[in-house]
Amino acid sequence: MSRISQAHSIEDLRRRARIRLPRGVFDFFDGGAEDENTLAANRRAFENVRLLPHVLRNVADPDLSAQIIGMRAAAPFVVAPMGAAGIGWPGADVAIARAASRLGIPYVLSTAATASIERIASEAGGRLWFQLYVLRDLAFTEALMARAAAAGYEALVLTLDMAVGGKRERDIRNGFTVPLAPRWRTAADFMTHPMWCLRMLRHGQPSFENLQGFAGSSHAGTSIVARAAQSLDPSFDWGALQRIRDKWPGRLLVKGVCRADDADRLATLGLDGLWVSNHGGRQLDGSVASAEALPDVVHAVRGRMPVLIDSGIRRGVDVVKALALGAQAVGIGRAALYGVAAAGQAGAERALMILSEELRRAMQLCGTPTIGDIDAQLLQVQPARQRS
Ligand SMILES: Cc1cc2nc3c(=O)[nH]c(=O)nc-3n(C[C@H](O)[C@H](O)[C@H](O)COP(=O)(O)O)c2cc1C
Repeated sequence: MSRISQAHSIEDLRRRARIRLPRGVFDFFDGGAEDENTLAANRRAFENVRLLPHVLRNVADPDLSAQIIGMRAAAPFVVAPMGAAGIGWPGADVAIARAASRLGIPYVLSTAATASIERIASEAGGRLWFQLYVLRDLAFTEALMARAAAAGYEALVLTLDMAVGGKRERDIRNGFTVPLAPRWRTAADFMTHPMWCLRMLRHGQPSFENLQGFAGSSHAGTSIVARAAQSLDPSFDWGALQRIRDKWPGRLLVKGVCRADDADRLATLGLDGLWVSNHGGRQLDGSVASAEALPDVVHAVRGRMPVLIDSGIRRGVDVVKALALGAQAVGIGRAALYGVAAAGQAGAERALMILSEELRRAMQLCGTPTIGDIDAQLLQVQPARQRS
C-alpha cells in the first residue's frame, strides 16, 4: 500500500483500514446497530447543513485553538472513547493518545480500552480524560474512578447511552468476539489478512486492561453484545449520577444525551459539560442524528455548561457546522480509528492532521479567522429554537 501521506481524506483512511483488517474487525469498527439508519443519518445531518460564508475578512492566518471545558486546546477536537481498538492495531490506544498529545488535544480513554489507565498516563501523556461505564459491580466502578484520579486524568466522561449493548448485526453475522476466538468461520478471514495476522501474533491478543479482575470480563469468546449486557448496570439513574458527581473530584461530563429536557435537568447538577452523541449509531437505531439533536440541547442548556458533539464527524467542515450549531468542541471517533487501523500512530496522526487542515481551510473559506468567529450567522437555516 502507498504511504500514509497519500491518504487525503478520512474516507481514504477508511478504505485502507478495510483492506488491512479482517472483515470481522473492520465491521466491528465501522458498523452500527440493526439497520444502521442512525449511522447513516449522522452523516446526512451534517451534509444537509448549508453554510453562508462571509467575504472580505482577513483570513491570512486562522487560529484553530479553542477553549474546551475551560481549558485551551490546539483545536476544538477531543478524541472520543473507543473500546477494543487494539484488535485493529497492537497498541492502538497508546498510538491514538500520542497522536492527540502531539496535536495538543484531549484524549478520552474508554473503560473498555485495550490499554490501562496507568499505561496511557505513563506512555502517552498529554491531556487525558477517562470514560466511565457504570458496571454492575459498584466497588469496581468506583475503583476505576479512583485510579483515573490518581493517574491525573483531568476529566471523567460518563457514558449514558448504553444501558444495554446495541444490536450490531454485522458482529453477530460475522461471529465476531473479543477476545478474538479463531473459529472455522473466522480463521479464513484472519488468514487472508496476513499483515494484520503477523502483527497480532507478534504482539499477542489485546485485552481489556482496565477490566482485569472484573467478574464480567472473564468470559473469553463471548460476543461483545453478550458481554456488555452482562457487565453494564441498566438500573443506573439520576440518583446514581449524583453519587458519581459527589465521588469524582475533577471535571465531569455526561455523554450520550440527545433530549432537551434531559439536558435542562443535567444542567442543574453542577456538571462541566454535556456531550451530545448517539454512540456513532451503535446503540439505538432510530435515534435522532446528533447534529439534529444539538440545537435543542444547546437551547435547553442556556449557557450553563459547554456542549460537545460527536457521531458522524468526517470532514473539517463538519466541525464548522457543529460549532455553528452551538457546540464548543467535537469528538473524533471512527475517523481516528480508521487512521490507526490503517497505519498505527502515523495513521492516527494523519487522521487528525487531515481534519485540522480541512478545518483551517473551511474557516478561511467561511471568513472566520478564529474559532470564536464561528457562530449561527454562518447557517443558511437557523435552528428553529434559536431564531428568536
Ligand atoms: C469501535 C468503537 C468503540 C467504541 N467504544 C466506546 C466506548 O467504549 N465508550 C463510549 O462512550 N463510546 C464508545 N464508542 C463511541 C464513540 O465514543 C463515539 O461516540 C462515536 O464513535 C462517534 O461516532 P463516529 O465514530 O461516527 O464519529 C465507540 C465507537 C466505536 C466506533
